[in-house]
Amino acid sequence: MPTLDDLRLDLRLRSQHGLTWLFAQAGDPLSRIDHRPWRDNPYPLFARMHAGRPVVRSRLGPLVAVGHAANRQVLRDRDCRVRAPGGPSPEEGLVDLSFLQRDAPDHTRLRALARPAFSPRRIEGYRAGIQKVTDRLLDAAAARGGFDLVRDFAAPLPIAVISELLGIPEVDNERFLRYGNALGASLDGVRSARQYRELRRAAHEIDELFARLIERRRADPGEDAVSALVTSLEEDRLTAAELRTMARLLLIAGFETTVNLIGNGVAALLRHPGQWERLRADPGLAAGAVEEVLRFDSPVQVTGRYPHRDIEVGGLAVPSGTPVILLLGAAGRDPAVFPEPDRFDITRANAGEHLAFSAGAHYCLGAPLARLEGEVALRALAERLPGLKAAAVPTRRRTTTIRGYSRFPVRT
Ligand code: HEM
Repeated sequence: MPTLDDLRLDLRLRSQHGLTWLFAQAGDPLSRIDHRPWRDNPYPLFARMHAGRPVVRSRLGPLVAVGHAANRQVLRDRDCRVRAPGGPSPEEGLVDLSFLQRDAPDHTRLRALARPAFSPRRIEGYRAGIQKVTDRLLDAAAARGGFDLVRDFAAPLPIAVISELLGIPEVDNERFLRYGNALGASLDGVRSARQYRELRRAAHEIDELFARLIERRRADPGEDAVSALVTSLEEDRLTAAELRTMARLLLIAGFETTVNLIGNGVAALLRHPGQWERLRADPGLAAGAVEEVLRFDSPVQVTGRYPHRDIEVGGLAVPSGTPVILLLGAAGRDPAVFPEPDRFDITRANAGEHLAFSAGAHYCLGAPLARLEGEVALRALAERLPGLKAAAVPTRRRTTTIRGYSRFPVRT
């Protein structure tokens, strides 16, 4: 039974969403990307915005960076931080996602502790395991003829990989997908009391999972990233609470986005049969295809920063403390950087200049791992399931920050 507080919260959240709907109808770009039809396909809106200024002001208050150069400038500026000057600490937010939501010096210290798990040597070491999981999943899928690309392939692959990296012994795909959905959706803010409860529950269950795992690794360390972090804890290089939130970040960041790289990639390839044909003819193009997918349909569409000094971007003066929303997905369609940006071309020479992995201090720590998973996945699909076809229209997730599908029925 919802409590009175739940109902009040619900009313407040829904009326906020209603207000942005009104702004969306009136043409406010930031409100539009949060509402249909623009949320389902924001690219025509981005194309119109690219014809105008690279940075625009939203009626909701923040500035919105559309152009590639403007996005990149803000991301790379050390004085543009994830926290507002004097703003609330991340612990007071919805769910604390460790160093993703911290600035130097904590960001620098915590990121350095996580970094060894993503060294080039480690990443290459994961290749055989990624290939093995891919083969296992595709064997099962091919035997069935029809399958759900997201549920049966794009999700279980990165879930298996990040679980192995973190040393999580029992993996429950459905449960992890629920965690990913709850935490991924919360990046847009919470819209209902029910969503808030689901989020708290997911965060609590993840915490319990890692509390058990940390105890286990204290007694019996392994080669995994959690064991390495437990050693850092014993050396007083981070606190127990920091270890828990970092494990949570690595788990969620590790699959919530890669699922959509694979899902969005297959959707784009099947909608552009000529490109799918090229990949089938030369599966060695898979690495380039991954870059083009990231540019063309970025799994993370939005992030944000607060300048901590007065800056100028895209010809606009931005006073210190103004929130700046960064449209990473729009940056990938900037015609000033990518000629004919709405054309999907897996051999595009400069596709890798996308900002799908962000830039600057928070540049995605897992980018090499995501690239490897994407490459192995797309290559294997092209080699093993050349007759792959959509069996129904895929179901789009109702989120703005995270862009992808929840269901995608295909046949082989
Ligand atoms: C296609 C897949 C992926 C995409 C599109 C992606 C995208 C991003 C983006 C955009 C950011 C930075 C957000 C910002 O600047 O505000 C980020 C940060 C991060 N990503 Fe990824 N990511 C992907 C896969 C992964 C994987 C597989 C991992 C592995 C654990 C991972 C771990 C992280 C971490 C730890 C951060 C925080 C970095 C920091 O704050 O210093 N990501 N990712």
